[in-house]
Amino acid sequence: MWDRDMEGKEQPAGGPHFVGKKDELIEAKRSFRTLEGRDVLVIYHQGVFYAMDSYCYHAGGSLENGDIEELNGKLCIICPKHKYKISLANGECIYKATDPRQTPPVPRWYSKGVKQRVHSVTETNGDVYVTLSGDTGWFESDYYQGEKGKVERARAEEAEQEKS
Ligand code: FES
Repeated sequence: MWDRDMEGKEQPAGGPHFVGKKDELIEAKRSFRTLEGRDVLVIYHQGVFYAMDSYCYHAGGSLENGDIEELNGKLCIICPKHKYKISLANGECIYKATDPRQTPPVPRWYSKGVKQRVHSVTETNGDVYVTLSGDTGWFESDYYQGEKGKVERARAEEAEQEKS
């Protein structure tokens, strides 16, 4: 199967897909791309490129404007919607909590596991490419890339607009 890149050139399904010039992507810091019908966020942070599904696995919030912080030794994007923390490197969601059985209860980091699908980024001669994850397992963020998820995201957006 073949697909077309941003310039209309054919490239193999799955990628690598050309997503932009390195300089442009660095300047933009966050770049939204649709690759093979999948909405992907390309992130440049502290000298490294990352790519992940663009919508948060929790309830489909857009991660594009999420802050990035180092938490428990992991660089995480913080979903603007409900503040879930998702590792840029592998899509793991981490959270801080206290175990009430502990005395005194001391907050510590826990993992919810890998929830967000991440993709790999490569660079050749100033051109940046994303190869979509070929993992055949189910990631919760897959839901918001499908038809049902799209409808749900649109509904949530409408509700949000009505509130404001
Ligand atoms: S949608 Fe991202 S934390 Fe809820």
